[in-house]
Amino acid sequence: MKDVYILAIESSCDETACAIVKNGKEVLSNVVNSQIDFHKQYGGVIPESASRMHVENISKVIDSAINQAKIKHSDLDAVAYTQGPGLIGSLHIGVVAAKTLAWTLGLPLIPVNHIYGHIMANQIDNDDLDYPLLALVVSGGHSELIYFKDKNTYEVLGKTTDDAVGEAFDKVGRIMDIPYPGGVEIDKLSKDGEALYKLTEPKAEGEYNFSFSGLKSSVLQLVARENKAGREVDNANLAASFQMVAIDQLIRVSEELINKLELKQFVLAGGVAANSRLRDEVKRLSKTYPHIKFGYPQMKYCSDNAAMIGAAAYPLYKNKKFGSLSDGANPSHRKLF
Ligand code: KG4
Ligand code: ZN
Repeated sequence: MKDVYILAIESSCDETACAIVKNGKEVLSNVVNSQIDFHKQYGGVIPESASRMHVENISKVIDSAINQAKIKHSDLDAVAYTQGPGLIGSLHIGVVAAKTLAWTLGLPLIPVNHIYGHIMANQIDNDDLDYPLLALVVSGGHSELIYFKDKNTYEVLGKTTDDAVGEAFDKVGRIMDIPYPGGVEIDKLSKDGEALYKLTEPKAEGEYNFSFSGLKSSVLQLVARENKAGREVDNANLAASFQMVAIDQLIRVSEELINKLELKQFVLAGGVAANSRLRDEVKRLSKTYPHIKFGYPQMKYCSDNAAMIGAAAYPLYKNKKFGSLSDGANPSHRKLF
């Protein structure tokens, strides 16, 4: 069978990224230009600035991806891009770049859902996913449990009723006055601390849902109480305490579904899949349920990148699920495929 080379573009938030992926699994290049150092100054992503930086960087990132992959434009079979969800202005730059390339090179276009990309990152350098599968999607914008009966049929069984888990990490980071993104810093800090602070265990409405805003408020109240009492807050202990409660909730709800469903595989997906406690908990689950495969993407494919978009585009290419030049960005995109 002929090899399929897909050029993929991701620009949904604050990373301008392009990758060349062979047959959905082999990453020939994966260029990510992160804007984090800029947004750090403001403690979060400034959408207007993000779009402007995508415009400045997109052509360079695409050229680097092609050069690093050591391929020619004529080797490409399709151009994939993130259609949504994400920031409208950021998405738009990737959409325009993808359409321009596809039109100029006469190639099919493949619009990809960002969340589906995060899930398919598990297939990079790895076996095909096994179904029935449960994916715990955890990112800055999403916390969802998605059940796939087979590779073409899925259902969202649980989601957050308020903040996404990554958002909660970032907001708690702001309360602790540590650099953005809080998730990365809290994970690092927690390694030097112990979960000694008592924080309110979140309770969500709905059987398999999550809730994180009460936990964030509980951190805010604790910091205010300690400040008022003239005691210094131990950030490492606070990081460990918050991380423990947040991750334990994700695992507790996931485990309820693992027990209920007849699964072949469970995977993590999204930026928070990089969290060390979450990865350790998944390793623990794999020992408790040896008949199920447990996995998470390699660290470099957890946070936003274009290789995952190339991986997700491959089955869409095989099923000829092509888009058209009249498609646009969809900031609240819901359909995975
Ligand atoms: O998937 P992603 O790169 O962007 C979105 O699609 O939202 O996820 C970014 C989120 C941020 O909230 C960031 O704080 C969080 O992932 N994150 C982490 C870790 N690394 C990134 N959260 C907890 N622990 C980490 N190690
Ligand atoms: Zn993401």
